Amino acid sequence: MTQRSTDWWRHAAIYQLYPRSFADGNGDGIGDLAGARSRLGHLRDLGVEAIWCSPWYLTPMADAGYDVTDFRAIDPRFGTLDEAEKFIAEAHEHGIRVIVDVVPNHVSNEHRWFREALGAAPGSAERERFWFRDGRGADGELPPNEWESIFGGPAWTRLPDGQWYLHLFAPEQPDLNWRDSGVRDEYEDVLRFWFDRGVDGIRVDSAAMCSKDPDLPDFDQHGAFPVPHPYVDRDENHAIYRGWRAVADSYPEPRALIGEVWLADSDRFAAYLRADELHTAFNFDFLGCSWDASALRACVDATLAAHAAVGAPSTWVLSNHDVTRHVTRYGRPDTSTAGGIRQFNPVVDEALGRRRARAAALLTTALPGAVYIYQGEELGLPEVEDIPADRRDDPIYHRTGGTDPGRDGCRVPLPWHGTEEPYGFSPEGADRPWLPQPPSWAALSVATQDRDPDSMLNLYRTALALRRAEPALGDGELRWLESPDGVLAFARGADFTCLVNLSGRPVDLPPHTAVLLASQPLIDGQVPPDTGVWLRTPDA
Ligand code: NOJ
Repeated sequence: MTQRSTDWWRHAAIYQLYPRSFADGNGDGIGDLAGARSRLGHLRDLGVEAIWCSPWYLTPMADAGYDVTDFRAIDPRFGTLDEAEKFIAEAHEHGIRVIVDVVPNHVSNEHRWFREALGAAPGSAERERFWFRDGRGADGELPPNEWESIFGGPAWTRLPDGQWYLHLFAPEQPDLNWRDSGVRDEYEDVLRFWFDRGVDGIRVDSAAMCSKDPDLPDFDQHGAFPVPHPYVDRDENHAIYRGWRAVADSYPEPRALIGEVWLADSDRFAAYLRADELHTAFNFDFLGCSWDASALRACVDATLAAHAAVGAPSTWVLSNHDVTRHVTRYGRPDTSTAGGIRQFNPVVDEALGRRRARAAALLTTALPGAVYIYQGEELGLPEVEDIPADRRDDPIYHRTGGTDPGRDGCRVPLPWHGTEEPYGFSPEGADRPWLPQPPSWAALSVATQDRDPDSMLNLYRTALALRRAEPALGDGELRWLESPDGVLAFARGADFTCLVNLSGRPVDLPPHTAVLLASQPLIDGQVPPDTGVWLRTPDA
């Protein structure tokens, strides 16, 4: 395998592959490993250095595979362990690293441990692995506390024997008790299982939520964020990740740990990235930032400062499988996230959103650190808003009675080629895709965009190729340059400049520059609104 360096995670362009929607090899309308293996060439041509695969483990799919029955088995919908090993080996042959998703906060209610707990008595060791409690009220008919599930509804479900169990997500995802040493040992063993199979990194799901206050106290869930919080960002989490880091570092070529850490406090966030904990974490502040030059600059500065304090590289993320796709977010009349990063988007200017997404691609890939690309982002896919209720799968949609659109709209299977559904996602004669693809997606398919030099796909390919070749990009320093209001301009290294115009009017190029790449054609030598450019600027 070709290797750029052992600290690839400090600068890599990482592609999030959502297996269920990437490519379907066996024709059941669900993406799988056979499909993913057959499409690895797309990722090689795109120029990414690593792939993060969302869960592919045995699962009843109550939460799209984030409800895991067995971390050492591949779900038959996706394939076999042998195919997963081949996928890892084949990615490596293309020089692409592989990151798998591990979910420590909870398991599936079909996991052996939960089944054992259900068959065991209250107070038993089997129940100690989870959070079983008696209820309140005369007959224990009220849940042990008022905590709400993040997916809507109460965070507790009652069993026929009268006890309740905690699930911060769906009832099919019982929360584990990380005070139990067996839980800690098992997860370290799961890490070894995948590292031994050549996996280069682990994405840690809901990483800040594992530890709970054992008193399970009530708090004002709609008020200010309490510190300490009963289940978010508790200090005990750090010992868990120190243990994981020791496992990762025990391999000759260290493996990377990447946390899903949603925290408003940047110092608390950075604490997870200390030298003996996680390597990096997703930058959700950036993902949630409005399309506004001063807000973006403040976000970049705050990100870089927080990471510098612990010596960790930043990451840059625009989309993932949990939020409205950014072509759609940036096409809203108000791009601030006041209404949430996931919402119904009644009035969207998709052309504007795509134009901004092109500029944002040049911004994110030029910032210092690693960058994540969520599958379909390289095609400029928009959120699919009009999925019929009976085809929607996400528990968030169903548990909130449809007031939250959920995440199906960003998980629609990719269009590869052809003029109608399934656009090459599945082979000829296959079942229909698990989510419907819009009729307009022929224009967005990989094959269509491959032929168009100005497509989003070719913009990403060119940007990633330049990024790999450009020593100043990836990890390192950034220097802001003087620029008009509404314009972001920064230098990397001696002579590389990225300029993004969010000002609403054309702006001049800095003097003595050569344009390396532009997200839109320049007009009369000026950078039009909502456009990003990469420049060679010897005097920067
Ligand atoms: C975060 C994952 O990204 C999301 O998809 C999942 O539903 C929750 N964690 C629960 O595992």
